Amino acid sequence: MALKITVIGTGYLGATHAAAMAELGFEVLGLDVVPEKIEMLQRGEVPMYEPGLEELLRKHVAGIEGASGRLRFTMDFAEAGAFGDVHFVCVNTPQKHGEYACDMTYVDSAFASLAPHVRSGALVVGKSTVPVGSADRLARLLPDGVELAWNPEFLREGLAVNDTLHPDRIVVGVRSERAEKLLREVYATPVAEGSPFVVTDFPTAELVKTSANSFLATKISFINAMAEVCEAADGDVVKLAEALGYDDRIGKKFLRAGIGFGGGCLPKDIRAFMARAGELGADQALTFLREVDSINMRRRGHMVELAREAVGGGSFLGKRVAVLGAAFKPDSDDVRDSPALNVAGQIHLQGGQVTVYDPKGMANARRLFPTLGYADSAEEAVRGADVVLHLTEWREFRELDVDALGEVVGRRVILDGRNALDPVVWRAAGWTYRAMGRPGA
Ligand code: UDX
Repeated sequence: MALKITVIGTGYLGATHAAAMAELGFEVLGLDVVPEKIEMLQRGEVPMYEPGLEELLRKHVAGIEGASGRLRFTMDFAEAGAFGDVHFVCVNTPQKHGEYACDMTYVDSAFASLAPHVRSGALVVGKSTVPVGSADRLARLLPDGVELAWNPEFLREGLAVNDTLHPDRIVVGVRSERAEKLLREVYATPVAEGSPFVVTDFPTAELVKTSANSFLATKISFINAMAEVCEAADGDVVKLAEALGYDDRIGKKFLRAGIGFGGGCLPKDIRAFMARAGELGADQALTFLREVDSINMRRRGHMVELAREAVGGGSFLGKRVAVLGAAFKPDSDDVRDSPALNVAGQIHLQGGQVTVYDPKGMANARRLFPTLGYADSAEEAVRGADVVLHLTEWREFRELDVDALGEVVGRRVILDGRNALDPVVWRAAGWTYRAMGRPGA
């Protein structure tokens, strides 16, 4: 008989994982402690913008017309415990307030609530990003006869559905052949389609996630450091990245220079990794991540300075600044640690009149930065602006009618914080175009 699966925590990761498990043919029960979330999911809606996720939910949520009915939701841990053969724990681990370490409260309480109800013989699988050593500790919270496995998740926002159904790799930390066998059953389809299945121990499985994110963050900060040098030496970081990328050992991806990385993962994961290495007495091994973090944060300040220069040096007082982009990256409405909003906020604090527009991130941006100005379109945002900042590289911004924008803007000056616009197009329409790490471009 097919395995029954529960997914504890139906945020970004959990909602996607639950829908993907139903798509793979399993009976799935998703659990969350927030009633509004459950109500939305039961209607086949998600509380965030993620391409393809609502369609996948509607294909499976019980009660929706035409759906397979394989996916249901509950708030009841006893029901989840009785239902599942395999329980995936997908709750989030945010950065602790004012500290580098990550906050394990949600993971700890999910385990504490689930443990008394899990059937003997069931497998609990941790997916949350946790400090190395957590799995070993959490395994001891489970009753006899209930095993733990660790199976980190590598999905990217904006591509979550595809990344979950067709993962680059599946990594499982296990302590028994039985746990491995159960997880091979869960992931039989993606493995048959070619996803590598890596079996290892708990600490290695936990470390794969944090070291992968550290590597990605390092790659971005590396190219941003090169952008700083290019600016000092009159080089062009976009050409440099292209030429570097032809070397297979380096690769083309994650070499886009600009205002740097943000979001709910990379910044907090590298900080939590440093904090954990410190606890383990291995802090020296990760001191380079401090530099990765500080290069990244410097990019935001640098964009503020470029904007200041563009409005005549001196103060932002009385200057209108249009900001295109609020989400931390395109195809997402997530504004957590968004470089775009950080830049917008800094300029606002320094007296600039900032107007932000983002295709999907407006509601979240308004909630987080209620004092900034907002507009309902790019054209409205740039109306009368002394400078336009391009800070999140949505396709919509690459396809803007630059002539029409030129008619309504105060001064035709665009600063490209993502190296994603075509300088030739903007200049042909009479704009001054400047980008990061390309003084001569
Ligand atoms: C990341 C990891 O990619 C994913 O594997 C992990 O599971 C969660 O964290 P995500 O946070 O969705 O995913 O975003 P990602 O696509 O990695 O981008 C992170 C940030 O880096 C964004 O702010 C993006 O704009 C920035 N970035 C990315 C660059 O500045 N330059 C690049 O070349 C690539």
